[in-house]
Amino acid sequence: MSSQIIPVDPFDYIVFGGTGDLAERKLLPALYHRQAAGQFSEPTRIIGASRSEKSQEEYQAFAMAALKEHIKPKEFDQAEADKFVQRLDYVALDAKSDKGWDILVEKLKGSEERVRAFYMAVGPSLFGDISENIRQHGLITDKTRVVVEKPLGRDLASARELNDTIAKVFKEEQVFRIDHYLGKETVQNLMALRFANVLYEPLWNSAHIDHVQINVSESVGLEGRAGYYDNAGALRDMVQNHLVQLMCLVAMEPPASMDAENVRDEKLKVLRSLKRIDAGNTDKLTVRGQYKAGASDGGPVSGYLDELGKPSNIETYVAIKAEISNWRWNGVPFYLRTGKRMPNRVSEIVINFKAVPHSIFGAADQVVHANQLVIRLQPDEAVQQWIMIKDPGPGGMRLRHVPLDMSFAENFDVRHPDAYERLLLDVIRNNQTLFMRGDEVEAAWEWIDPILTAWEQTGQLAQTYTAGTSGPSQAIGLIERDGRTWYDND
Ligand code: BG6
Repeated sequence: MSSQIIPVDPFDYIVFGGTGDLAERKLLPALYHRQAAGQFSEPTRIIGASRSEKSQEEYQAFAMAALKEHIKPKEFDQAEADKFVQRLDYVALDAKSDKGWDILVEKLKGSEERVRAFYMAVGPSLFGDISENIRQHGLITDKTRVVVEKPLGRDLASARELNDTIAKVFKEEQVFRIDHYLGKETVQNLMALRFANVLYEPLWNSAHIDHVQINVSESVGLEGRAGYYDNAGALRDMVQNHLVQLMCLVAMEPPASMDAENVRDEKLKVLRSLKRIDAGNTDKLTVRGQYKAGASDGGPVSGYLDELGKPSNIETYVAIKAEISNWRWNGVPFYLRTGKRMPNRVSEIVINFKAVPHSIFGAADQVVHANQLVIRLQPDEAVQQWIMIKDPGPGGMRLRHVPLDMSFAENFDVRHPDAYERLLLDVIRNNQTLFMRGDEVEAAWEWIDPILTAWEQTGQLAQTYTAGTSGPSQAIGLIERDGRTWYDND
């Protein structure tokens, strides 16, 4: 099975925050892979921009080091990397003043016909100044796009403000808001599974589905991001964007086409149908957790507060029972959970179908398990359909619960691109299907905001859990109270 590479038009990517962590770990390696796959047309340039003074050669050396560190050795090719850094340029400029912008203007002169993408790999407080400088320096062409990434606000008010700031300079169709989960291979497979097969859609509703679980567990802890994380917490960092987006893709109505507006309209309807969680029900519908010292990644690890160095009630784990008030999903809970310092890194969507209405198999040991569809996003992308079969061999009619297992690595011999590879080139292709529209981001905050307020009002505490375990015991209570259990991926 081979993958198909469709070259994109020549482009200039201008990366603000070009020497930062995101550029180093994700953006430069992703662009390298796309070049190696033969997807670039010439002349294509990548221009790093940031405050620090650097020559073009120094930036190329920085990029080469980034590639060597962040690309798997078997995927790294020195000649390819040499070719890649040759297309890099650098400008030292200041987001908040005029300094350096004329140099960028000079570098972009004559390339007005190319796609021009500005990537804001900087904190959101700089989006406004950078956008304004882009406008004032006449850098917006017909083919200009701008890419922004979370945190897209820390509540509804700040998200609106950010959208307004960007809208002063760019039209909505020029704005690409990244949620890198939407670029993951299996997330798109979810759409293929639902809308390219006749099997599932007739069952995809409250008549046949008992509940849905979305689990994004990470084994890592703070990873040196204490400053950011303690102002965010798992609800803002993971749920408001990644988990909510996954929930939308599971729950949305079939869009008329894969066209960006059609898909985003359907996701928006889901967001607007989410049942409000507030001070009246937050203790029943949400659990916050915070890890204490334990063992993870094969050794002892410190607790959150030790890493942070001060007291905090910020959650590193959250479990939520969400409900969607519409015809399709009435009475079907969506249990969301995500946490740091879990036993392992796994992201899964589990569709739990209803049990058969009546078992003809009689004996008490012949439990007929309900069907489950498991869509595993990572680490090993797979789709598993759990069904009941007769246990093979003699011994009478005994039943067994087994998965029809579609592991992508085993079945397809293709390299799985990182989410950023797909998304960065979708910007060049001008395809917004996998990006969030401004109103979607705001609608997600509209659901999250009352939860944050409720936690504050009620003083809901983050319950401790030992690092390397599956979260606080209260999270087990959250689902078991409803007579259900968390899907166990072991
Ligand atoms: C980021 C969060 O958006 O997603 C991080 O800020 C988290 O805290 C990361 O670790 C998880 O992404 P992935 O692709 O590794 O699952």
